[in-house]
Amino acid sequence: MHIPEPVETKLRQLASAGKTLNCYIYDTAPMREKITHLCDIMPAGVEIYYAMKANPHPAFLAAAREADVRGVEIASLGEAEKAVAAGFSPAQLIYTGPGKTVEELRWCVRQGIRSIHVESLTEAHRLNAICEQAGRTQDILLRINANFDIHEAQTTFSGGSKKFGIDEEKLADVLPQIAALSGLNFRGLHVYAASGVLNVADLLKNCELVFGMARNIEIAYPDMCCDIINFGGGFGIDYLETGCDFDPLAWANGLQQLIDEYDYSGRAFFLELGRYLAADSGWFCSEIVDIKESRGKKQVICAGGINHFRRPAALAINHPLTIVRMARPPLFDGQETVHNEAVYFGGPLCTGADKLANNVHVEAAHVGDIAVFGFAGAYGLSMSNIEFLSHARPAEIVLG
Ligand SMILES: Cc1ncc(COP(=O)(O)O)c(C=O)c1O
Repeated sequence: MHIPEPVETKLRQLASAGKTLNCYIYDTAPMREKITHLCDIMPAGVEIYYAMKANPHPAFLAAAREADVRGVEIASLGEAEKAVAAGFSPAQLIYTGPGKTVEELRWCVRQGIRSIHVESLTEAHRLNAICEQAGRTQDILLRINANFDIHEAQTTFSGGSKKFGIDEEKLADVLPQIAALSGLNFRGLHVYAASGVLNVADLLKNCELVFGMARNIEIAYPDMCCDIINFGGGFGIDYLETGCDFDPLAWANGLQQLIDEYDYSGRAFFLELGRYLAADSGWFCSEIVDIKESRGKKQVICAGGINHFRRPAALAINHPLTIVRMARPPLFDGQETVHNEAVYFGGPLCTGADKLANNVHVEAAHVGDIAVFGFAGAYGLSMSNIEFLSHARPAEIVLG
C-alpha cells in the first residue's frame, strides 16, 4: 500500500517525539474529491447524504459540509447533535436505523428533520403519537426488507429474516395502516440491500427492484406516491487491493437508464454513503511493541488492537498494511524480526479475538516500526471496543 507523503511525514514527526505511537491520521482531501465527483456525475434528483456512522469526527463532517453533500444520515440522537454542531441544519438530516426511542423521535419531530425512515409498525405508531402530541406531521420513508440479497456483499441488510425494515411480503397489510396515521406523511421507500458492494450491476439490480416495488405500490394505493426513493449506502471499497474499484459513473449511468425506463424523473433519489466517502481519508498507525515466534508462527503485537481498530477482526478481513521503518536499535542480540514471511498482527488486549491482520505477507518489520493500516477512515475508531482494558484513546490527527 502506498502511504501519501504528508501522512508518512506526519507519522515520522510524531514518532520522533519519543512516545509510543498509536493514532489515526486523517486527510479528508480524498473524501472532498469523491463528493464533488459524485455530485458532478449523478442523474438529476440524486441527493447525497453522508452516513456519519462511518466517521463522526468533526473533520469528516466539515469535509462533507464544505463539499456540499445534501445532508447527513443519522442513526442516533448523539449523531444528530454532532451533525448540528458541525453546521448542518436539522432540515438536512435524515434518520435511519432500528430501535429509535421516544426521546430520539421527539427531538426529530420538534427540530423538523427532513425524513424519518420507519422500520416497523410499532415505530410508525410511536412516531405518529409524538406528531399528534406536537400538532405536526413528519415526512417518512418506509424501510423495506426486500426479498433480495447480494450474496457477495460484506454485510447484507435485506433478504431473509432481518431486524431492518418491514418484510416486503407484509406491505399489503402494513401500507393501509401507515396511510391511516394522520401524523405521518408517507413520501416513499428506503431499501438498502448491502454494504461494501463492488459490483455495480448488483447494486443496480437493487435499484430496479425498488423501482418495481414503488410502481406496484402506486398502482395498488393511488394515494401513496413514492416521490422519494432511498437506496441506502453500499458503494464498496477495494480493501483487498484487487484493482477492481467501485465505478460510480457506471452506477450513475445505470440509474439514469432506469429513471428513463420507469419515467421516474422529477423524483428524489437518496444515497446514504459512508464507507465509499470516508475510507481512504484515514490511516490507523500503531507502533510495533513486540514480535515473537510462537510454534511456527510470527505474532506481531502493536500498541493498539481491536480497542482502537476493530473492523478487520469484526469482518475477518485484512486491511492493506505497510510497515514504516523506524530503525530503532534492538534491545538485545537476537530480538525477533520479520523478514519476507506471512505473519499475524494483534494488539495488547487479553483476548484471542484481538487481531489486526491474519497471515499477511510482510517484507520486513522490527520492534519500534509503525504498522500503518489503510482504508481506516471509515468504521475505524467509531466501531471499536474503545473501553476494553482502558488503554488511552488513540489521537486523531487531522492533516491540512
Ligand atoms: C441505514 C444505513 N445507511 C447507510 C449506511 C452506510 O453504508 P456504507 O458505509 O456501506 O455506505 C449504513 C451502514 O451500515 C446503514 O446502516
